[in-house]
Amino acid sequence: MAKIFEQESRTFSEYLLVPNLTTEKNTPDQVDLSTPICKYKKGQEESKLKINIPMVSAVMQAVSDDGLAIALARCGGLSFIFQSQSVENQCEMIRKVKKYKAGIVASDSNVSPDSTLEDVIALKEQQGHGTAAVTEDGTADGKLVGIVTTRDYRVSRMSLDTKVSEFMTPIEKLVTAPEGTTLKEANDIIWDNKINQLPIVKADGRLVGFVFRKDYEFHKANPLELLDKDKKLIVGAGINTHDYETRVPALLEAGADVLCLDSSDGFSVWQKRALEWIKSNYPDAIVGAGNVVDAEGFKYLAECGADFIKIGVGGGSICITREQKGIGMGQASAVQDVAKARDEWFAKTGEYIPLCSDGGIVHDYHMALALAMGADFMMLGRYFARFDESPTKKLFVNGSYVKEYWGEGSNRARSWTRYEENGNGKGKMAFEEGVDSYVPYAGPIRDGVETSLAKVKATMCACGSSSIEEFQEKARLVVVSATSIVEGGAHDVITKDSNRNN
Ligand code: IMP
Repeated sequence: MAKIFEQESRTFSEYLLVPNLTTEKNTPDQVDLSTPICKYKKGQEESKLKINIPMVSAVMQAVSDDGLAIALARCGGLSFIFQSQSVENQCEMIRKVKKYKAGIVASDSNVSPDSTLEDVIALKEQQGHGTAAVTEDGTADGKLVGIVTTRDYRVSRMSLDTKVSEFMTPIEKLVTAPEGTTLKEANDIIWDNKINQLPIVKADGRLVGFVFRKDYEFHKANPLELLDKDKKLIVGAGINTHDYETRVPALLEAGADVLCLDSSDGFSVWQKRALEWIKSNYPDAIVGAGNVVDAEGFKYLAECGADFIKIGVGGGSICITREQKGIGMGQASAVQDVAKARDEWFAKTGEYIPLCSDGGIVHDYHMALALAMGADFMMLGRYFARFDESPTKKLFVNGSYVKEYWGEGSNRARSWTRYEENGNGKGKMAFEEGVDSYVPYAGPIRDGVETSLAKVKATMCACGSSSIEEFQEKARLVVVSATSIVEGGAHDVITKDSNRNN
């Protein structure tokens, strides 16, 4: 007879943390959110890769491209660039992240002198910032003839078809610096001249990029930036169980720091084969595997040599796997079951395998719950899709700004390498396991992450913990009844308008 688990499976919203004693040591500024990504002998050595905040972005077209990877690494987290694209494109994205030099930024908003005010406004809307380079041919590396910032035009007083050449600040009036200027020199020029951006130009007048005052301030204010030993941003890449023999060497060559097998069901012989191949050909590569939801799945992947293990089947916001296939487990129960198995594995072998809770984080406090239950970091899709830096379009729908967000198993993405069942690489998805959707637009990633982590730190302080490891040891959790969930929100009052959206 089939095995029926004794306990029903539960999700994050069914739990609360019970406060522990808070002491002088428990203030948010003393909380360390750094966390390991790669397995290690805890107590004897350090993990060879740690991230500075416990957040990684999902292996998804609508989430993790080079733009989001740069923005997230600058906040201290890590992106896994999506694998449902050609090896060449994915490697190009990895290269862009590794080449990114905090400070000198290629111009992403470019117009020509013949463009119009309307074009400038559309570009501002699309890119989310107000500085555009004016180049002779309107390209990012064309000959620089001026710049346009929001100080150069007044929409209420000017016709939308006014030519850029009539209102731009022309090159003669700009402070520029030659190619080869160091970041320190560039920042000094910015301060000395009281300007907000400094165009860097080649000897022949073509644009290299900009240095922005706000980036300097960001860098100073963000000691958490996730950098490798050469001071380049750290980036991950999704891989699959079909073409790893070509994809993995190319990604490592392009500079990927960590790989992650991307599959809706990772308890499979295909993952074993992929892990064995990678480990025998690239013993130093860091490679995570998943997804699993219970102790058996964990043990299988641990024995196959996974460096971290990802948990979650069917809990993603765009996911319909449970409806389509009837498989999965409530995310909270899955994390608890796997974390128990991980701790037993550690007690037996001395090897600590970091766990990633993937999918189903809806409220910020769910992050604290996932960590308390034993996850070392979280993978988030919906959360990151909402920000300016995600790759998808920002639209105005029914009176609000939204961003597009679609599942890898939706018809839109058709990531057959994630969803094809039999591993024979025929390239077909028999049915959808995800939907195409909108998520509420949430502004810049930095502000969003800062707020979410302020909440996580506050929760940890309330639970008397200053590190994730301490939190996992000390946390006390309780299952809540349906009526006490109602009690937890504002109730029995008439709320005034609020902008709170998570
Ligand atoms: P979210 O953070 O709740 O939006 O969940 C993101 C996670 O959902 C990803 O990291 C994947 O594990 C999973 N996922 C991505 N696309 C699909 C899909 O089309 N169907 C089911 N799960 C998906």
